[in-house]
Amino acid sequence: ERDEFHYGTFPEGFKWSVSTSAYQIEGGWNVDGKGESIWDTFSHTPGKRANNETGDIACDSYHKVKEDVNLVKMLGVQQYRFSISWSRIFPDGTTSYVNQAGVDYYNSLIDSLLKIGVEPVVTLYHWDLPQALEDDSFGGWVGAEIIDLFVEYADICFKEFGPKVKRWITFNEPWVFTVLGYGNGAHSPNIKDSGRLDYQAGKNVLLAHAKAYRLYQTQYKAVQNGEVGITCNSDWSEPRNQYRQVDYDATNRVMQFFLGWFMHPIWVNGDYPDVMKVIAAQGEATSRLPELTTQEKSLIFGTSDFFGLNHYTTNLAYETFSPDRINEVSYYEDREANTEQDFTWPAAASVWLKDVPWGIRRLLSWIKKEYNDPPILITENGFSEEGNSHELNDWWRTKFFHGYINEVLKAIQLDNVNVIGYTAWSLMDNFEWAEGYSERFGLHWVDFNDPERPRIRKQSVNCFVEIMERSFPAD
Ligand code: NOJ
Repeated sequence: ERDEFHYGTFPEGFKWSVSTSAYQIEGGWNVDGKGESIWDTFSHTPGKRANNETGDIACDSYHKVKEDVNLVKMLGVQQYRFSISWSRIFPDGTTSYVNQAGVDYYNSLIDSLLKIGVEPVVTLYHWDLPQALEDDSFGGWVGAEIIDLFVEYADICFKEFGPKVKRWITFNEPWVFTVLGYGNGAHSPNIKDSGRLDYQAGKNVLLAHAKAYRLYQTQYKAVQNGEVGITCNSDWSEPRNQYRQVDYDATNRVMQFFLGWFMHPIWVNGDYPDVMKVIAAQGEATSRLPELTTQEKSLIFGTSDFFGLNHYTTNLAYETFSPDRINEVSYYEDREANTEQDFTWPAAASVWLKDVPWGIRRLLSWIKKEYNDPPILITENGFSEEGNSHELNDWWRTKFFHGYINEVLKAIQLDNVNVIGYTAWSLMDNFEWAEGYSERFGLHWVDFNDPERPRIRKQSVNCFVEIMERSFPAD
């Protein structure tokens, strides 16, 4: 019953889109005055990633704007989501010096998109912090100055690109870059800490986001009339044992730690979910989760014009019954302790990613209820195969899109969830962070051994295009 196909069309005005991010595709890491980012540093440090691969060249999109815009055009999407590299615009992260070549690059990308009638959806921060802001006195996302520095950077982007960009995403997946960057150290800047620094970083991200949102409202909204939001990632969490209340409770905790950490303050009441506050304070002299003052709460609450959602997969959650509840306390530092996946679910190349279409429908309903029916923009969804695959007949991705997109349609038509758009990750194969080029998420295959970096369409493009074309009633 769960997987039955639902026939219907997507609502008028529904936005189809594909996405990428700067460090993952651009390359040109040190050309035309670009400063170094924490991902340049990390990828140049041996032993950090699969095969010691780097994003130095990646898809070389810095030099292939025309070609990439043409790929977007051929898909027939209404939007293209990409991110701006902060250090391409401000090489040392501060407004003391603007790199005009960087500004020109994004202007030409945006102009070419507008020329073909595709709306740019621009992410300000997709993990590539200018290295200078991580160094010394600054301390990256755990430092005190980062909030204002981010707002200054956002300000220039609004001013420079805002006349042409009507949809902004301040941050991409704060859970990932705070927990992996400042918690378990799997990502740059590679700091390992036991559940305090990542919470500190998370608080700074919330404040930076809120201040940038408020700045847009007061300085730009009246003239530019765009929307500003934030994108969080969330797997769906399903109770492992349907007959155990404790597994339902565990499921709720997982959802709150995943999505609630950022979305509860923004959409519910300015503050973290209660369950997070309770657990983070357990057995501690001072809570690991830094408190939000009354003023901060009102600053944060209500600061997103749409609910940006990256979703890929589902996990089964269960109560661990560990005597000191340690696995719960540090749930996200030791996820395997209380979630697992069903081995019958079709697996992608990425270890965490299984094809579980019904999960997205349940997640969308949960968001509708939990966050008071927000307009949801799905900003990423996709499937990976092995890096050494040369297979263009990617039937697994076709199946994935068919399944997930149909569940999105059910959420809209049967559950009345307000989903305003769907974005596939990714336009093309690219640098998958710590996994380097060992996982391919693209609708287009990229030859990373050829200096020209040719892009070739995979079969799943046909499926994606057909779904989009059929989504609107024919005239
Ligand atoms: C989330 C991230 O935003 C993106 O950078 C990454 O490549 C995809 N998901 C796939 O893992």
